[in-house]
Amino acid sequence: MLEFEEGRKGLRRLIYASRFTGEGDFGEVVRTIVAASIQNNRLVDVTGFLLAGEGLFLQWLEGPATAVEETYARIARDRRHAGLATIADCPAERRWFRDWNMGQHRMGVADQALLAEVGLEVFNPTGLDADRAGRLLQRAGERHLRGG
Ligand SMILES: Cc1cc2nc3c(=O)[nH]c(=O)nc-3n(C[C@H](O)[C@H](O)[C@H](O)COP(=O)(O)O)c2cc1C
Repeated sequence: MLEFEEGRKGLRRLIYASRFTGEGDFGEVVRTIVAASIQNNRLVDVTGFLLAGEGLFLQWLEGPATAVEETYARIARDRRHAGLATIADCPAERRWFRDWNMGQHRMGVADQALLAEVGLEVFNPTGLDADRAGRLLQRAGERHLRGG
């Protein structure tokens, strides 16, 4: 019932890709971003998942429509990345990442099979459509839950 009620309240899902602009150490920047995201997103009931690798980002944001919109507007102004491409922006029936105000996974050599599932050889999410980008994030999130 909770999922149904969330849907009626106007739950929104947004997926975008962007590239790191190269100031500072990528891993350190990702850690800083995730720490701030967890704090901020919790306050406005936004959850989601961030994939980072090869100097690129793929992020899933979900939550009340206004909160997602405002969060994305703030993210879009962030100089630490550029070239934002919105891949999906639609009403959502339910949350996928309800346990994470911002889960994250660093893409690495162990992720070849995961990438192959969506037809990629390297982590290059910019050209993905909503289905494949969504699947990549969901599968990465599942693996993360299992500690894989
Ligand atoms: C790839 C990327 C993803 C981000 N994701 C989020 C997010 O989910 N939530 C958030 O509040 N800020 C996120 N940020 C950070 C925002 O752009 C912004 O720096 C931050 O919200 C400001 O928070 P503060 O006012 O607490 O410093 C992200 C930034 C980048 C580059």
